Amino acid sequence: MCTLTIALSLSLLFLLTTLLPAKKSNNDTLLSCTPISDTHIQNNTCVLAPEVTEGPYYHSEGHPIRQNIAEWQDGLLLLLDIGVIDIETCQPLPNVLVDIWQANATGNYAGHPFPLLHLANKKPQVGGKHSGLLMAFPCTLHKETWLRGAWPTNRNEVAQFTTIFPGYYTGRATHIHTKVFPEWTPLPNGTFKAGRLAHTGQFFFEDELNSVIDKMHPYVSNPRAHTYGRTRNWRDSLNIFEDSHGPEGKYNPVFKLHLLGGVVSQGVIGYITMGVNASASYSMPFIL
Ligand SMILES: *[C@@H]1O[C@H](CO)[C@@H](O)[C@H](O)[C@H]1NC(C)=O
Ligand SMILES: *[C@@H]1O[C@H](CO)[C@@H](O)[C@H](O)[C@H]1NC(C)=O
Ligand SMILES: *[C@@H]1O[C@H](CO)[C@@H](O)[C@H](O)[C@H]1NC(C)=O
Ligand SMILES: *[C@@H]1O[C@H](CO)[C@@H](O)[C@H](O)[C@H]1NC(C)=O
Ligand SMILES: *[C@@H]1O[C@H](CO)[C@@H](O)[C@H](O)[C@H]1NC(C)=O
Repeated sequence: MCTLTIALSLSLLFLLTTLLPAKKSNNDTLLSCTPISDTHIQNNTCVLAPEVTEGPYYHSEGHPIRQNIAEWQDGLLLLLDIGVIDIETCQPLPNVLVDIWQANATGNYAGHPFPLLHLANKKPQVGGKHSGLLMAFPCTLHKETWLRGAWPTNRNEVAQFTTIFPGYYTGRATHIHTKVFPEWTPLPNGTFKAGRLAHTGQFFFEDELNSVIDKMHPYVSNPRAHTYGRTRNWRDSLNIFEDSHGPEGKYNPVFKLHLLGGVVSQGVIGYITMGVNASASYSMPFIL
């Protein structure tokens, strides 16, 4: 019932925000939209979210401070409602910067469109730690920022984003990356200078929903659909999905999802809570 109210007010807000001309303020970005009304942290279970690899696609100098990270990327509307809890006090944490980045509907990261030429026909590694993975695509388009962005948790201790459902790439379960910065400084160009890093993690989706979205446009045109297909959560390379549950399996890194409308194609909203150690300080980068 709660979902229905959100969905109704949402569609109104979307209409308004898309029809009204964009204001020319400093932090107003193209197609910006702040669609979720005041939601509170959904799950205040105080469990530490494990540290996992940030992977090869983080851009330490290019993530804008914004809520709508989609830019012109096409895909299924996905709203994110990410809560942050300090596991030392078990109190929710307002005003910490939640930084996220993800692949587009067909499995590419902004700035990394192609594999290295001589690796174009390379097959995924067989056996070993990187089994199932391809060599990472290099960064060739430094200016691209789509599907990257950071936003602080609000007074309700949640950071809310508008994006599209991520696509998949060879060897990895469908996921969204995150970092949490208790200290950061906004820069004049709309990005931020990172201070202390308290957490690096990854979020996932139920395979059942992934299978439905695989068949939708533009996900269905993922070039890997006809080669290696989508990697199921349980087969995630480097054991990342498994590790994201923590050593005792107590953390749940999978979004809790609700439909925004009557059918999946109208979009979904994902809720998750991260337990972080607010006084921790991890050095960047953490790449496996
Ligand atoms: C964005 O701009 C609005 C209005 O100018 C301001 O109130 C708000 O604090 C700004 N947000 C950020 C994250 O800079
Ligand atoms: C924003 O400014 C910082 C500091 O000058 C710079 O390092 C960074 O590359 C800039 N980012 C973008 C996307 O222009
Ligand atoms: C995803 O990004 C790649 C690389 O920029 C691009 O070729 C592809 O068209 C994008 N996918 C969609 C669905 O727009
Ligand atoms: C709440 O979060 C904990 C820790 O991640 C998880 O084990 C539990 O399943 C979550 N509960 C719900 C209802 O999502
Ligand atoms: C949180 O991090 C601090 C600083 O590294 C450390 O001293 C403390 O033991 C950590 N707390 C927990 C509960 O892990």
